[in-house]
Amino acid sequence: MNKLLKSIIIAGLVTASYAKTTTPATMVSTDGLINAQRVGNINISTISPSDGIWSKAKTTTIILYPQQTIKLNDAKANKLNAANLAKKVKVSAIYSSNAVAFKLVWSDPTQDKLSGIKSDMYGDGFAMQVPVSFNDPKKLPYIGMGSDGRPVVVSLTKAVTTHYEPNGNGNVENQLGTSNMNLFGDELKQQKAKIASLGNSQYVKSFVSEGFRSMTEIKDGSAKVGMKMSYDSKTKQWTGVVAKSLNDGTLHLGGHGALPISFAIWDGGKMNRGGIKNISSWVAVKLQGKSGDDALVKELTTPPSGNAIAGKAQVEAMCAACHTLSDTKKAANAYMAPNLKDIGGYSTNAYLAESIKDPNAVVVPGYNKNAHKSMIWYNADPKTGKRTTTMPPMMTDDKMINDAVAYLKTLKAGVEK
Ligand code: HEC
Repeated sequence: MNKLLKSIIIAGLVTASYAKTTTPATMVSTDGLINAQRVGNINISTISPSDGIWSKAKTTTIILYPQQTIKLNDAKANKLNAANLAKKVKVSAIYSSNAVAFKLVWSDPTQDKLSGIKSDMYGDGFAMQVPVSFNDPKKLPYIGMGSDGRPVVVSLTKAVTTHYEPNGNGNVENQLGTSNMNLFGDELKQQKAKIASLGNSQYVKSFVSEGFRSMTEIKDGSAKVGMKMSYDSKTKQWTGVVAKSLNDGTLHLGGHGALPISFAIWDGGKMNRGGIKNISSWVAVKLQGKSGDDALVKELTTPPSGNAIAGKAQVEAMCAACHTLSDTKKAANAYMAPNLKDIGGYSTNAYLAESIKDPNAVVVPGYNKNAHKSMIWYNADPKTGKRTTTMPPMMTDDKMINDAVAYLKTLKAGVEK
């Protein structure tokens, strides 16, 4: 952990509105559970999308919902993502004595690669996140890359053309620019060969993250993960595989019977990056044949117990002044609070209940206050300097909270065919 390099992701805020034109989310069957089949002691840490072992896996469809946590300073990207739908992803899972591996298949009309040269080209990609600790299944990290005190390990891969990592001076231009080097003939050829050898066509990174404004890249090799992507231009589908060690320097998953996992995908064609993505809620992965973590599986697979109709009336009366709840109702000012119109797609029951009962338990990591002074989501704690929410605790009665959760779970984007 001491070899980590800190990087700050500049953030803004949510506003986009998503049209809901296709299949209602309720018509797609998902039970929030992925079954990982045991495949013995074979090495699956470098598994590829075409490996025959996948025939042993069971496949589940999970839904990844649009989450636009930040509004980018990019009108084109914001417009391209204004009407995003949820995406279906077919997930197959296996595990062996030392690794768990997933194969994800999703449709994407265009293959887009991150370019090392053009800064306005974005790559298709996918990520897996796992909480560093999940002993209390009711207090999982915030789904958007963890939260203060509740870190996640994120592993990310992007489709790339050859790209270049900055050198020790953090400057790619000096490292690559041959035009101001006064080199000719063989010297120039040598320099160009050197540049070519520095190029990287694999992009796999791991981060430990307590919210997307502060992600720390794990560069010491301790996050043992293998990721690959391949695009089929006939079916217009990506297949991605990720194999994660069950015990490495970042996560100790070996003793568990089940794990909470969330997947995200980025569409480079829509200029997705940073806070714009499709993301699943926490999904339980049951390691078949291993015991333990029953409470986690139960927590993530049990539908909300409250009455959504009663919850709707209460939430509209008490919460709509700050939060937008749908495209059809009058929108609240985004300066007040995050938009909740898709919240049910990527949030667990426990997270929603905790957000209402104890608004400071997880403070949604959002915009950079210095850059967005008019946003009033946060106050700073005078002692610690940490963010505190401006949302008051408004419901204390458990029945009311359960009803509100049942209603909030119905707020989600339609699903792509
Ligand atoms: C005074 C304005 C205000 C009111 C009223 C309010 N909230 Fe909030 N709410 C916020 C702010 C600001 C945040 C973001 C900071 C944080 O995480 O608390 C937030 C965050 C949330 C979140 C987490 C959102 C996310 O993206 O993860 C949920 C869920 C939520 N509120 C539900 C409710 C419900 C339900 C009510 C009504 C009982 C309500 N809020 C009333 C201001 C408000």
